[in-house]
Amino acid sequence: MVEIRKSISGINKYAPSKTTEEVTKQYGLSPADIIKLGANENPLGPSPKAVQAVREYADAISMYPSADAIELRAALSKYTGYPTEQIVVGNGMDGVIDVTTRLFVEKGDEAIILPPTFSYYELFTLMCSGIPRFVPRKSNFDIDVDALIDNITKKTKVIFLCSPNNPTGNVIGEKELLQVLDATDAVVLVDEAYVEFADSSAIELVRECENLVVTRTMSKAFGLAGLRVGYGIVPPWIFREYMKVLPAFSVNHIGIVAGIAALEDKEHLQSTIQTVKKGRAYLTKNIPFKTYPSQANFVLVDVSPLSAEKVCEALMKKGVIVRDCSLVRGAGKSLIRVSVGTSDENRRVVGALREVAP
Ligand SMILES: Cc1ncc(COP(=O)(O)O)c(C=O)c1O
Repeated sequence: MVEIRKSISGINKYAPSKTTEEVTKQYGLSPADIIKLGANENPLGPSPKAVQAVREYADAISMYPSADAIELRAALSKYTGYPTEQIVVGNGMDGVIDVTTRLFVEKGDEAIILPPTFSYYELFTLMCSGIPRFVPRKSNFDIDVDALIDNITKKTKVIFLCSPNNPTGNVIGEKELLQVLDATDAVVLVDEAYVEFADSSAIELVRECENLVVTRTMSKAFGLAGLRVGYGIVPPWIFREYMKVLPAFSVNHIGIVAGIAALEDKEHLQSTIQTVKKGRAYLTKNIPFKTYPSQANFVLVDVSPLSAEKVCEALMKKGVIVRDCSLVRGAGKSLIRVSVGTSDENRRVVGALREVAP
């Protein structure tokens, strides 16, 4: 029997947030009693305009979509101010990161990753038989620019940055980002999954930096996580190569039409941002443990002296799903991540945490 590639057999499977169905079964609760604040989804759900577009196009699903999602890219061009020739798409941002990593990382190449951070960077690097080089963040979770630059070698092909960072919620300053960009020819990929909730973005720098890629998603502020629509702003030289290797039809027909409708629904976007910012302030103020300042739609909480695992378990018994970060590399054993929900959901998670707090 042939063997699975060595770099793949060592990979730990991605551990997604618990689903409502799993918790229903495990704890004998009714789905109506469960709130899910474990996957940073949109508390208001999708834009009603996107839902309408999905309904209208249901009869067209026997047809292939456009191979390169040009209609969606045109709408993203309006939203971002970049030409369609600098906008790539993928099956979720996960798809965009996957293709981008495959463009640059070959066997033995290195990718720099700054834990604790989004775990897929490591997975995609390993899938290319690349070597992740981990540069831990400082104790306040800021990136350690000097240590990062010290770890750049001739083999470094990609540097993964995340701003706001998942699960810590902090952003990278423009000064630090420019320092990193200046120090390397490697591709610097800035993951801006949560940018709509933040005060800053790196997107404008793509115009002047030949090695900068900014990746984004419609899963969070646009509420389309179930449809898997991601995109990236890239320099023209990367665009040409990316489009050669992107599997055709990576964004499906429903994703394209719902994506366009969601981009047009400015009102829903603004309500989402307002709801998240208000809820984030409420959680930060009222959670009875140490919280970290966040520019995303979640708040990182240090539940010491309790363990994250115990707290998540106790919350799940009460029908509240949050994220146990002890499964995230470099996050230690006492961090949990709470997504911002509706006001009712936020009150409930605060109440549940008060009950488990020592
Ligand atoms: C930092 C970060 N990047 C990328 C993604 C993946 O986004 P998508 O749903 O578009 O694949 C997530 C999802 O949670 C994320 O937190």
